[in-house]
Parts: sequence; C-alpha cells; structure tokens
Amino acid sequence: IPVDPFDCIVFGGTGDLAERKLLPALYHRQKDGQMTEPTRIIGASRSEMTKAEYQDFALAALKEHVKEELDDEQVKLFLSKLDYVSVDAKSDRGWDVLRDTIGNADTKKRAYYLAVGPSLFGDIASRLRDNGLITDETRIIVEKPIGRDLESAMELNDTLGQVFKEYQIFRIDHYLGKETVQNLMALRFANALYEPLWNSAHIDHVQITVAESVGLEGRVDYYDRAGALRDMVQNHLLQLLCLVAMEPPASMDANAVRDEKLKVLRSLTPIEEANASKLTVRGQYGPGASSGGPVDGYVEELGAASNTETFVAIKAEIGNWRWAGVPFYLRTGKRLSTRVSEIVIAFKEVPHSIFGEAGTGMQSNNLVIRLQPDEGVKQWIMIKDPGPGGMRLRHVPLDMSFAESFNVRNPDAYERLIMDVIRGNQTLFMRRDEVEAAWNWIDPILKSWESTEQPAQKYTSGTWGPSSSIALIERDGRTWHES
Ligand code: BG6
Repeated sequence: IPVDPFDCIVFGGTGDLAERKLLPALYHRQKDGQMTEPTRIIGASRSEMTKAEYQDFALAALKEHVKEELDDEQVKLFLSKLDYVSVDAKSDRGWDVLRDTIGNADTKKRAYYLAVGPSLFGDIASRLRDNGLITDETRIIVEKPIGRDLESAMELNDTLGQVFKEYQIFRIDHYLGKETVQNLMALRFANALYEPLWNSAHIDHVQITVAESVGLEGRVDYYDRAGALRDMVQNHLLQLLCLVAMEPPASMDANAVRDEKLKVLRSLTPIEEANASKLTVRGQYGPGASSGGPVDGYVEELGAASNTETFVAIKAEIGNWRWAGVPFYLRTGKRLSTRVSEIVIAFKEVPHSIFGEAGTGMQSNNLVIRLQPDEGVKQWIMIKDPGPGGMRLRHVPLDMSFAESFNVRNPDAYERLIMDVIRGNQTLFMRRDEVEAAWNWIDPILKSWESTEQPAQKYTSGTWGPSSSIALIERDGRTWHES
C-alpha cells in the first residue's frame, strides 16, 4: 500500500548507515511502488557536496549494497528524488539552506533521520526547532545507542523530549523490523496451539542466541566504548526476550504492545554483584579462524589493550507468574563459529515414558525459531522410526522454511521501519520507558563487572565463545542448541 508523500531528511546522509542501509531500503520501497509523488530524500551532513555528487554517492551505494540486479528505470526515478544540503549541527551554517530546500509544505509528512552519533541529537533537535523546521507532521528517528547507561539514556530522552512529543519520536531497534521477528507475534498470537503451553508448566527454558561471525568491521571507537552488553543485549536481545515473554496484548496498537513489553522488562530479576559472576559471562575473541581464513584477535584488530567484551552470555529470569523458574539463556558474540540468530523454546519432557528401552533416545519438543539466515520455524517432535523393527523413536522437525514456502525477497528491516515512521505507526519502535527499563536491568550488570573487575575471558575466533558460557548452561543440566 503506498504511503503519503514525504520528505525524509537524513542527517549523516553520507555516512555508513545511509550508504549500507537507508538508501538501499528507500530504493526498494520506491521500486515496490510504495512512494508517491512528490516524495524527497534529502541528504544532510557537514561535507560540501552538490546534488549531483550526492546522486553519484547514492548510485554507488545502490550498486554496492542492493543484492539483486538494479532496475535502471527505477534507479533513475529514485535518484531524481534526492537532494543534498551541507549543514553543520554545531553552528548556524547551512540551516537556512535546509529551510529553503524543505520549503513550507506544512501538511506534508516529514521525517528527520538522525544517522549520527547521540552527542549530536541535542544540537540537531534544538536547531530544527529554532529554525522553525518542526510541524505537527514531523517525526524524528533515532538510532541506538540511546545512552550508555540509565542516566545518560534519560538525559538523551529529556533532550529529545524538550523539542519533540513522544508520538513524534521513533527509536529504532532494527531487530523489530526483521520479518521473522514480527513473525514471532504471528506465531504466538495467531495460533491457538502454543499459547496454552507458553508458560512455566510446559516450558523448561528458553535460549536466545544472536551469533555473528564478523569482527569489529572498522567500528573501533564506538565498539570499544560500548561492548556487547550495550551494543546487543540492552536492545536487540532484550527486545526478543520481550516478544517471547510478554502477555498477549489486546491489539497490535503501539501502546498495547509496548505496555506488555514494558511489564516484562520490569519483571526481570535484577542481577547484582553477589551473583553476577555466576549468572553472566564476558568474553573477548582472540586470534583464530573465520570463513576459512585466519583472523586477528580483538586487541590486535583494535591495536590497543582492552578489556571490552565481544561476547556475553546471561542466565536471565523473569519474576512473574507465567515465567517463574524458567531461565532465559541469552548469548551473543562476534567472531563466533557461524552467523545465526535463533530462539529456542525448550518444552518439558513427557512426565512418564511408556517406551522402555526404545524411549531412551527421547528428546523434548524444541520449537526453534530461526531469525536469520535461512529464516524458518522448526517444531521438533518424536515419531516412531519407520520400519518393522519394533518401536524405536526418533526426533524429527516439522520444518517451515521461508525461502521454500514463499518465493519472495525478504525485505530489509529498515524498509518496513521507515515506512512505519511515515505512517505514524510506533508498534515496532521503542517507547521511552522501555529503553529506560532495559537500562535499569543492564546497569547493575555493568556496575558489577566494573567493581569486581570481571575480566573478559578469551575465546578463539570461530568457536562458540568461552568455555564458561557452556558451563553456564550445563551447570543446570541443559545444553546450548547448536545449529
Ligand atoms: C547492530 C550492532 O545494532 O547490530 C552491530 O551495533 C551488529 O554490532 C548488528 O553487528 C547486527 O545486526 P544484524 O541485522 O546484522 O543481525
């Protein structure tokens, strides 16, 4: 369904995010017929650049980052929508030009995308206000990191809140835009089958793994100050946990969904100094192998000594009626054995086996939701091994692969999210209180690591992380589900 015409002004328009994600996403939306005239995309950054040069930049970005063949006609149309303004967030330079470029179409939808570091959020927001660039139809999109702890997150939210109303602020967690993540809600709430079993009476534990095979990818400064807990757990993994654990919302209305996610975040059992070393694992990759070749360790890549974690495993618990006693094992890291994100719902074993010896291989019914790559859902069940050899049991998956079932391109998360901003739909965006509740749980972990000087344990690149991560789950008599 086409969206209303809009102006999308991308601060950081020549940066990495714009190049890799935003321009390709907008091109796809244009190609799929979702953009209506007169939509414009205005790149804004400090560099001096003409409109033609920005179009060249965008064309190069599409050639590099759009996976399938480009459609010349659509590329031409897309490039014709582009404009560029050189503007300095820290001074008055360029703001009058930006105002003239946007014009005074007050009723047109307008989105400012802050694809810049959070230290510029405040400057940009106040200059937008001071230059009269905010209308009722204006929205602002901000990327993580939203703060580095609760206090700084609150400050950032205050800063934005002084200029924009909450309905205008779209805090992106791009995991929420992934098709398979949205499918989690369909799986849970469009099927009568799972919900009655979705609780501590039937579920033994949950695993959430977001494993990456890449290393730093050049983001040295940002990453070394952040680390995996801030970079991945505070946002992506906790959002996944919320979608798995939340109560059924009354509707898909943005606040109905976010109210339920917030309750989950507020029910997470705090991890304090006394048990942090038992419930959390910090790791850092050392040299090893990735994609068939040798790779450097983190400190070699960084070129400096560092105790920053590139791997985290946590045993989290949710203190409410539905989930008491069901551990949620979270794990994420860089330079791991393979790139895979998945959620495993491990159901309890049958209360009593009638199969004697044949039943010794009996395994529990895991529901494996594969978020990426090879998106799909597998429900493992026990069946009788076919053949006349008597009753032997076997564990097999009911297997639904998105690629096999639907012969369509899997859109990138940003495509859906940017269009939702234009539609004004905040369901897949984080509300202020959600971000703060997530930090509220993360902060004590960070503090314990600092005060106990918990070192990051080295793991070999290309493995599944430090051995203490395996111990974390095996201590409870369980094992990580390896793909
Ligand atoms: C980003 C993190 O939010 O997510 C990166 O900052 C990480 O460090 C990335 O690589 C992973 O996203 P995806 O979509 O590739 O799983």
